[in-house]
Amino acid sequence: MVNDHARLAELAMPQSLPRTRTSFRLARAHRQVVLIVHVLASVGLFGIALTALGFATLALRSDDTSMRQALLRAIELLDRPLLPILAVVSVASGVLLCLGTAWGLFTHVWIVTKQVIMATLIVTGVFWIGESARQALEVGTPSAVLLGLYASHLALLVTATTLSIVKPKAQLKKEMTR
Ligand code: HEM
Repeated sequence: MVNDHARLAELAMPQSLPRTRTSFRLARAHRQVVLIVHVLASVGLFGIALTALGFATLALRSDDTSMRQALLRAIELLDRPLLPILAVVSVASGVLLCLGTAWGLFTHVWIVTKQVIMATLIVTGVFWIGESARQALEVGTPSAVLLGLYASHLALLVTATTLSIVKPKAQLKKEMTR
């Protein structure tokens, strides 16, 4: 029975993947804590994008000026400071998991794809969404571009979550064993 539990835990969180050459390994308990933080921060980004898209849609449809202002101000609050904090935590914990486990940073296609997705989210978030959200607050209504950006972020975050769960086997380079 105890062995069955150990086997199930091993399947859920494989420790026995071929090892990549990294300088340290996270202990099981530490890995679990970092993974919890990572999933909360990453899925939190999805929650923010979904909420902001909902608020922007409501603001676009509302005839009430004060309601529109309140919704746009709420979007601005989500955009700063919540979004950058969660993005930094997601990237930092993700990189820690890569380096501290057998996954590695540049071995698996699903992990490199998530890094590209995160880079896209951060660049468009900082340089495009932030500006569009501030403009929306100034003119009192969100632009179609802002809605499109949030919808694209949602699609990218769904892709990242799906990749994380499915973990396709494709590799960029052979894992190094030691
Ligand atoms: C720089 C960006 C990212 C890196 C380097 C990264 C890396 C990783 C790694 C290595 C794991 C496996 C951890 C383990 O098994 O111990 C993982 C798990 C996970 N990641 Fe990320 N990640 C990143 C971004 C994201 C994003 C944007 C999302 C979703 C919105 C996400 C969602 C998840 C989820 C749900 C898991 C848990 C999968 C499972 O345990 O079955 N990650 N991530």
